[in-house]
Amino acid sequence: MIVLGIESTCDETAAAVVKNGREVLSHVVASQTDLHCRLGGVMPELASRQHVDIILPIIDKALQEANCPIDLIAVASEPGLMGALLIGINTAKTLSWSLGIPFVGVNHIEAHLYAAMMETEPTFPAIGVVLSGGHTSILKIRAIGSYELISQTVDDAIGEAFDKVARLLGLPYPGGPEVEKLAKLGNPHAYKLTAGQVKKLPLHFSFSGIKTQVLYQIGNQELSSQQKADLAASFQHTVFTDVVEKTTKIAKEHGCEHIFLGGGVTNSEALRSYFSTSKLKIHFPKREYSLDNGVMIAGLGYHVFQRKGADNYDLTASPRSACLFSKETL
Ligand code: KG4
Ligand code: ZN
Repeated sequence: MIVLGIESTCDETAAAVVKNGREVLSHVVASQTDLHCRLGGVMPELASRQHVDIILPIIDKALQEANCPIDLIAVASEPGLMGALLIGINTAKTLSWSLGIPFVGVNHIEAHLYAAMMETEPTFPAIGVVLSGGHTSILKIRAIGSYELISQTVDDAIGEAFDKVARLLGLPYPGGPEVEKLAKLGNPHAYKLTAGQVKKLPLHFSFSGIKTQVLYQIGNQELSSQQKADLAASFQHTVFTDVVEKTTKIAKEHGCEHIFLGGGVTNSEALRSYFSTSKLKIHFPKREYSLDNGVMIAGLGYHVFQRKGADNYDLTASPRSACLFSKETL
C-alpha cells in the first residue's frame, strides 16, 4: 500500500510517499525557520498562512518524486497549532474527496516514535521516549497504537527549554541546534546546574527550574564567549543526563530492553552520544526523520489504516493528543 503523508502541525510543511509503512519513495520538507527566526519563536498565524501558500506545491513535489499512484492519504491531525493543523487536514480531505482515495488522521507524537521503528522490526513491550519542542514523555509501547503514559514534564517541554536557554544566551530560534553547536566549545562541568525533580513523582520531568538557574548565572553580567559555551555545555549535559537516567530507571522497572526515541531533540548528536554507552537497545530515527516530516506520518498512517480503516470527513483537528494513551499517571 502506497501512502501520501502530510505534516503541518507547527512550522514545517512536509509531504512524503511511503510504501507499506517502511519504504520511503519521497520526502519533501519546507521549514519556516527563517520566517519565525526574526520573531524569536513560532507565530501561529504566520505559520498557518505559510502552510496555505506552500502545501500544494510541497505535496506535488512529493508525488512527482515518488512517481506512482497512491492508495491512502495520512495527515497529522493532532496535536499542534490549531490553524496549522486545519490546513493539513482540509488539504487531505479535499484530495481524498476529489481523487476518491481514503484518508486517515494520525497523532504527530506517535508518528515521531514510529520514525524510530521504521529502521528495525520493533519488539514489544518497549519504552518510547518523546523529546520534542512541545512534548516530553516516556511511555510503555505494547504495540503500535497501544501506549501507557509513564512519565512526562510537569512544565516546559525539553525542546522548549533548549529554545528558551538559547534565547538567554543570545542565540537564534530554533535554539536546540545552536545550543548544541556552542556546547561543543564548552566545559559541561563548569556550571553546577540541577535537573528538576518532581516531588512524589520521581520519574517525571521539570525543565522550568534549570532555565531559571541559567538566567541567574547570567545575571546582569556580559558573559564572555567561553562562559556562554560553558553554560550551554553545562545545561545540555544536565538535561541529557536526566533524560538518560530516568529512561534507564523506567526501562528497568518495566522490564523493557528496547527503547525507541522520537521528536526534534533526537536530532542532537550529543543526545545520541549520551545514550551510546547504555546497555539497553537504543533506537533513534534517522537524522532526516527526527524533525517534523511527512515520512513518519505516511509510515504510521499505513498501520492506523490497517487497524481501524479510513476516517470520515467529520475528522477535526485537535490541538492536544485526544486519545493516545490508555492510562495517564499525572
Ligand atoms: O519535533 P519538533 O521538530 O517539533 C515539535 O513537534 O515540537 O521539535 C522541535 C524542537 C525545537 O525545540 C528544537 O530546538 C529542538 O527540537 N531541537 C533540538 C536539536 N535540534 C532540534 N534540541 C536540542 N539539540 C538539537 N540538536
Ligand atoms: Zn514534532
